[in-house]
Formats: sequence, structure tokens, C-alpha cells
Amino acid sequence: MFPAAALFALSYLAVSYGQQVGTNTAETHPSLQWQTCTAPGACTNVAGSVVLDANWRWLHSTSGYTNCYTGNTWDATLCPDAQTCATNCALDGADYTGTYGVTTSGNALTLKFVTNGANKNVGSRLYLLADASHYQEFKLLNREFSFDVDVSQLPCGLNGALYFSEMAADGGASAYPTNKAGAKYGTGYCDSQCPRDLKFIDGLANVAGWTPDSNSANSGKGNWGSCCNEMDIWEGNSISEAVTPHPCNVIGQTECTGTDCSGGMCDPAGCDFNSYRMGNTTFYGPGSGFTIDTTKKITAITQFFTADGTDTGTLSEIRRIYIQNNVVVQNSVVNIPGIDPLNSITEQFCTEQKTVFGDTNTFEQKGGLAAMGQAFGRGMVLVLSIWDDYAVNMLWLDSDYPTTADPTAPGVARGTCSTSSGAPADVEANSPNAQVIYSNIKFGPIGSTYNTGSTSSSSSVSHSSTTTSSSSKSTTTTSSTKSTTTTTSSSKSTTTTTSSSKTTTTSTTSTKTSSSNGASQTKWGQCGGIGYTGPTACSGSTCTYSNPYYSQCL
Ligand SMILES: *[C@@H]1O[C@H](CO)[C@@H](O)[C@H](O)[C@H]1NC(C)=O
Repeated sequence: MFPAAALFALSYLAVSYGQQVGTNTAETHPSLQWQTCTAPGACTNVAGSVVLDANWRWLHSTSGYTNCYTGNTWDATLCPDAQTCATNCALDGADYTGTYGVTTSGNALTLKFVTNGANKNVGSRLYLLADASHYQEFKLLNREFSFDVDVSQLPCGLNGALYFSEMAADGGASAYPTNKAGAKYGTGYCDSQCPRDLKFIDGLANVAGWTPDSNSANSGKGNWGSCCNEMDIWEGNSISEAVTPHPCNVIGQTECTGTDCSGGMCDPAGCDFNSYRMGNTTFYGPGSGFTIDTTKKITAITQFFTADGTDTGTLSEIRRIYIQNNVVVQNSVVNIPGIDPLNSITEQFCTEQKTVFGDTNTFEQKGGLAAMGQAFGRGMVLVLSIWDDYAVNMLWLDSDYPTTADPTAPGVARGTCSTSSGAPADVEANSPNAQVIYSNIKFGPIGSTYNTGSTSSSSSVSHSSTTTSSSSKSTTTTSSTKSTTTTTSSSKSTTTTTSSSKTTTTSTTSTKTSSSNGASQTKWGQCGGIGYTGPTACSGSTCTYSNPYYSQCL
């Protein structure tokens, strides 16, 4: 997520967690197949599975069924302090479907928004597992990640988020021996908002300073937060969507206190690319009038280029490509005076965006793309979630934000949702059946997860925008955090399996396609790249190499 720590309003119901393990419900991880690829069409199935985050689980006494945490408060007897609580309390297994609205089928994962089991559960957050007690680690440098997403049932105020956090593969079990649950029970979460709503951090209960949230019956915040590098591949609903790197100046999951939790260790704002915010209001949205129609399934490919083209180089560019109806569509081009009309995230894009939008460049302060890339080199855990926003109603994603700023000022408008939309009480009451479906996850060297030749890719982008001065207004950047609400537990069982086999081969491909016709591309349009079949000549501009997959008329 996007922004701020305050946003992390998770709510877990009458649940309590311990870092011991409860046995009321067997923990059976739903299976989720995904693929590693070496070249287009050359992909290998991996039999993975997913696990629900610990914060959503029932936390009860190890000796029985007394809640350690009820509503948004800790039991004073079982949890007088961090260590005693960790000893007295156990996290139980999850009834994925009945309690949390989580189902898998083949390579698809469906997350329902509100589930009324024994209690009301709101949202969920899951991690991809490599085996029963370890998360799958992804090393993203010089790779691409692709998946399909159905956001058609995600209205204003909801967020289907698929992202990477630099969590420990074992959920912190080996580093913090009081954590007996580990990745098998979804422990060890962290992100760039340094969430303080986590009930346990580093194997100890976050009871000190715990303050129930005023607007949520299920969540609160303790003195400790949990920080780490975060790469938001996708935060979106049917109205808006953003890709956002959020670097930190710490390595791996790191506990914080005080101001370190609010921007001291990490960049909670990030450097976001939201097409609407970057000046293209018709690129992404519901209906055939949009380039990417959110009423239908979307394939999103995200590429992570290094400056020297190696797996150990410095991260230099993050590029998004879409496929819909078999047509490959390049990301929209920036259409904001003062920002170069390009369509990917680079250090220069971030710097210009911060300047023109009047935002403090916390992205650069925390190390920018280079720091993000170092985390990619160490390995990241895949997070899949659905949430509503108890802090700022998701307005940073899909509306005008800050709400008090002039909506015509650069960077303020992010989507067409009303500034009065997105309140959790409203969306939970009015859209309980909202859901997101993630499927067809693929990972491999750049260019390996999709057929670049799909259909066309020559959307001649012509823009009228000329670079001009900028103007700064002040705009606060985004922020928000994931939220959720949960409930009790109850048991059911589901069988799952795990195992994995990675295959990562570097494939080298290099084919420049030249167009067969004599047409020429307009300024800002694509004019080359592997798999590209459109015009390679530029009218009134020069075809400029960006990376092996993309050249642009500039
Ligand atoms: C939005 O993006 C589409 C697809 O790239 C393009 O055809 C259209 O001209 C863009 N609109 C603006 C205002 O930039």
C-alpha cells in the first residue's frame, strides 16, 4: 500500500492470536497453481498454496478457548505483557471459505469482501507458500511477473491489492523463537506503512500502548510497527489502479517504534503510476470506452529492468504492460505538463512527478529504485489481498485527494469516485458481495510470460502535451494502508498441498521486428521492441531505444 501507517486498520474480530499453535481447526492451505517460464509458451506448473495472515486468525488461550483478543482489546489476564501473552496464546487454523471467504480453483484465487460466518469477516490478506512452513521468495531483478485480475466486482473504496513485501521466508520463526507459528500460520507481515495494527511482531504481542481504533470495532494499534520494503504490483478496483514501489532504509522485516514507524524507516507514499493521476482519464475504467475495460478480465505484466541487463544490476525501470482480448497494450503515456511523456517508472519519472505534484520526495530519501532493487535481489514474498480503508476511504486511489485540494491541480485527481465514497461502513453495508479474482500467475525472465506478438501493440499514442513548466501546488501524497476485519474461527478442513519447483532460466531473445508497411509512428508512440510489429519509422521525431522491449518516438 499506498500510504500511511494509520491506514492499516485491520480488524480481527473476537479473535486473539498467540504465537503458539492452536488445534481447534486444522490448518489446511488452499492450493494455488502458478507457473515459472523460460520463454513464451515454455512455462512449468508449480503446485503452490496460500496461507491466511495471522492477524485474521482466532487467538485464544493455549489451555482452552478463552479469547486472548476480543473486539479490539486484549484480555488483561492472558496478555498483561508481550512475553506472557505470547506464551499464553495460540493462533488457530482457518476455515478459509466459511469464515474468510477465500477459495481457490486451479490457478485462481477468489477473495470475497464480507463473509458472514459465525461472525462478520471483512477482507483478507494471504501469502503464496513454497512449502507448508515457508513463503515463496521471488527475486525480481531482470524478471517479469504476470497475472490476470478480475476487478469488475470492486467498486469505489475497495482495493484488490497484489504486491510484494520483504518478509522472512519462515515468517520470523527462526529469528524469533517465541514465534512457534511461523509462515504456516501467516506470521511476520511487514510493509512500507510499518503497520502497528499487528497483534504480534517479532514473536511478541503488541500489547504495550495498544489503543483500540475509534472507527473500527476490531482493530487497534500498539507501540510497535513492522517495516519493510514493498513493491505494489497492483492496487486497484474497477475505477483506478496504481503500480508503486515503496523503498525502505532497512533490510528485511524490521520492528519500529515512534516516528520510525511513520516515514522514518520507509517511504509510505511511494512513487506511483496511476494512469488517471498521470493525465489519462480514459485509459482504465469500466466499459468499452476505456482502453483497458475493467468489466473484463485483465492481464497485467510488470517488468523490472536493471541498468546493465543482469540479475544483479541496479533496478532502473519498472514497466507495466496490459493484455486484454489478446491485444498487448502498452501503459498509458504521462500527459502532465512538466513531466516527460513516458510510460514507465524510472528515477527521473519519480523526481519529476514529486516536483510537479508538490510532494516531498520521500521516495528518493529512502533510496529510490536502487534501494527497491536491493530488496528484489534479497527476495520478496507475494501478498494477495482485498481491503477497505479505515483511514482515508481509499480516496488516494480512486478520487480527489487530498479532498481539500483543488481537484484541477496536478496530482490531485486519481479517479472518478466521489470524495464522499469509500467509507468502510458504507462499502461493507452496500457492497458485501464485492470480490477480486487473481489467476494465472507467471514469473520468469523479461519477455517470457506472454506472447509479445499477441495481436497488436501499436497503439499509436499521440499526445499533444508539450513539456512546460511545472507548477507546484501542494498536494499531499497518498497514503493508506490495508485494512481488514476479521472474525472468529471455526473449523473445517480443506486439503491442500504444497511443493514447488522453481525453474528460472534466462532466455535470451532478441528480435527486432520491423514493420512491413511504410507507415510511420506519431510522436510518443512505440516504434520498436521485441515482439512489436507496428511502424518503426517516426514522423517528426526520432525512434529512441528505451529497453529491448520498447522504443519510443521522441
Ligand atoms: C490515453 O491512452 C490511450 C491508449 O494509450 C491513448 O490512445 C489516448 O490518446 C490517451 N489519452 C490521453 C489524453 O493521453
